[in-house]
Amino acid sequence: MTVTLNKNLHAQYLKSMGIDVWVRRNLPESIPATVSTVTEENKTLPQNPKEKSEASPVPVPVPVPVHLLNWEDLENRVKSCTACELHKSRTQTVFGVGNRQADLILIGEAPGEDEDAQGEPFVGRAGQLLNAMIYSIDLKREDLYIVNVVKCRPPNNRNPHIDEMACCKDFLQRQIALIKPKLIVALGNVAAHHLLMTNTPIGKLRGQRFEYGDAKIPLIATYHPAYLLRRPTEKRHAWQDLQLIRETLSNYET
Ligand code: URA
Ligand code: SF4
Repeated sequence: MTVTLNKNLHAQYLKSMGIDVWVRRNLPESIPATVSTVTEENKTLPQNPKEKSEASPVPVPVPVPVHLLNWEDLENRVKSCTACELHKSRTQTVFGVGNRQADLILIGEAPGEDEDAQGEPFVGRAGQLLNAMIYSIDLKREDLYIVNVVKCRPPNNRNPHIDEMACCKDFLQRQIALIKPKLIVALGNVAAHHLLMTNTPIGKLRGQRFEYGDAKIPLIATYHPAYLLRRPTEKRHAWQDLQLIRETLSNYET
């Protein structure tokens, strides 16, 4: 047998037993599953995010590849570059300096403290010696182009790491492609190893002519002027290399 109690009677029983009856007030008939915030202004917009992206795609700018940049855009690209860790320790980037139509390009390793402060390669003590080396073969700094493998100063003047040089490689390659030099001179182990993709010590690489890249640009490696400041007895070898540089360049003169 089923006893169906009237709601009020049920409440009275419970009350007589000392049990409070709680009744929810103003309970809506049903609660919506999602809360929509569609207003008069936005009700025509699609609410599904997928539909939204199809309806109004946000254009993503694709940067022009480095190998197509002109000088100005290349310099700006380097200035704003944060591709490797070295951007964190720089004061400014050190792009390169000199004659953009030069026959000769000198490639060092990385900016040091003075270069980082002034924004120009080889302006410190090593730079002074480099200038003297250049004058010794009847050239001036302004006749050639001077650049480094990496454009930002490594912390505490440590050598740039292989991955940092790889990150910066396109910039140097573009600089070489724009200049179209007749001769590349790699200054020291770091530049020579990077450009020739070898681990052979500079003492064995110097005094010879190599070729760089698809354009087979003649390349001579010699001691870094900072090394010559520490080991002045090696200057006699550097002097021989300078003669080879002069001879190679004069072969192109008409
Ligand atoms: N050493 C380098 O290799 N480059 C510079 O610009 C200065 C010192
Ligand atoms: Fe960019 Fe070269 Fe500087 Fe690294 S070293 S942040 S790759 S410009």
